[in-house]
Amino acid sequence: MLIKNRDDAFVHPVTSEITSQRQYEGRRELMKRMATGVAGAAMASWAAREAHAQSVRPNKLAALASVKSTVAGAMTMDKVTEYKDASTYNNFYEFGTDKADPAKNAHTLKTTPWTVEVEGMVKKPAKYTLEDLLKLSAQEERIYRLRCVEGWSMVIPWIGYSLSELIKKVEPLGSAKYVEFITQADPKTMPFVGSRVLDWPYVEALRLDEAMHPLTLLSFGMYGEVLPNQSGAPVRLVVPWKYGFKSGKSIVKIRFTDKQPATAWNKAAANEYGFFSNVNPDVDHPRWSQATERRIGEDGLFAKKRKTLPFNGYEAQVGQLYAGMDLKKNF
Ligand code: MTE
Repeated sequence: MLIKNRDDAFVHPVTSEITSQRQYEGRRELMKRMATGVAGAAMASWAAREAHAQSVRPNKLAALASVKSTVAGAMTMDKVTEYKDASTYNNFYEFGTDKADPAKNAHTLKTTPWTVEVEGMVKKPAKYTLEDLLKLSAQEERIYRLRCVEGWSMVIPWIGYSLSELIKKVEPLGSAKYVEFITQADPKTMPFVGSRVLDWPYVEALRLDEAMHPLTLLSFGMYGEVLPNQSGAPVRLVVPWKYGFKSGKSIVKIRFTDKQPATAWNKAAANEYGFFSNVNPDVDHPRWSQATERRIGEDGLFAKKRKTLPFNGYEAQVGQLYAGMDLKKNF
């Protein structure tokens, strides 16, 4: 985002792959290789990776049961990013601006008890406990690409359900046009709330039809487990056709309104971060191109960058939401 690191270079994230199934298959492969006597070096690197993966799971995460999603576009076949990359290269400014900060610092986030208040232009405003939210609909696994405005991308197996399930329950009024997501801002448990980097709480918003789209995910987990704190525990949004910053983490309030809400990055720099922020290779960020991306985990010295796809590859599913709009103006 706007932030520079100590060397004055713009901070860009990094990633790779792993589902429990893949991990399981990897171990089977290793056993086979051990049986045929070729496993020495592989064993050492496997042990190191396992140790690292364990070290980034400080609180034993609970398993979350899910079925594979049948929503159109929800299961990309792209190689999944490794858990250790997805959970140690994060943006969560409440815990620091360096990509490694959230994994280091987010252990202080207190996720129980947790409630999400739904308010504003709805017939049935309500305060949901996390337990109520988890029960509201069946959990699905969805493998989404997430493309950050900074030029990197990851592929993550999320767990959750379409936000539309919750929206239908609270019955928006005809006048409601936008949905605002307000996230936790507790200076006692989030060391960077209070810094001047952003105007807290971190707020994101969608148009109501975007929020109702079946791909818009209310997520509670990833890689078969509950979300680690640094990834937005206990509940976050994932909007796969928009730049990553539209996916608010650690949500405490969802508000329905008739006016376009002011959102965190748009308030910080409106010329750089538009309200829509659909992934668009034809609209450059004022300070860099958005035409290509670096897939985390593919980042060797000679690794070729990938071409960024319109709507992050989800154009067939979401393109019609923007029919007739000038997407260069409405970036
Ligand atoms: N949500 C909150 N509350 N605070 C943040 O700083 N960062 C955003 C978004 N949601 C952010 C947030 C940005 S810039 C990105 S790229 C994604 O979270 C990163 O999500 P990830 O950690 O799952 O990669």
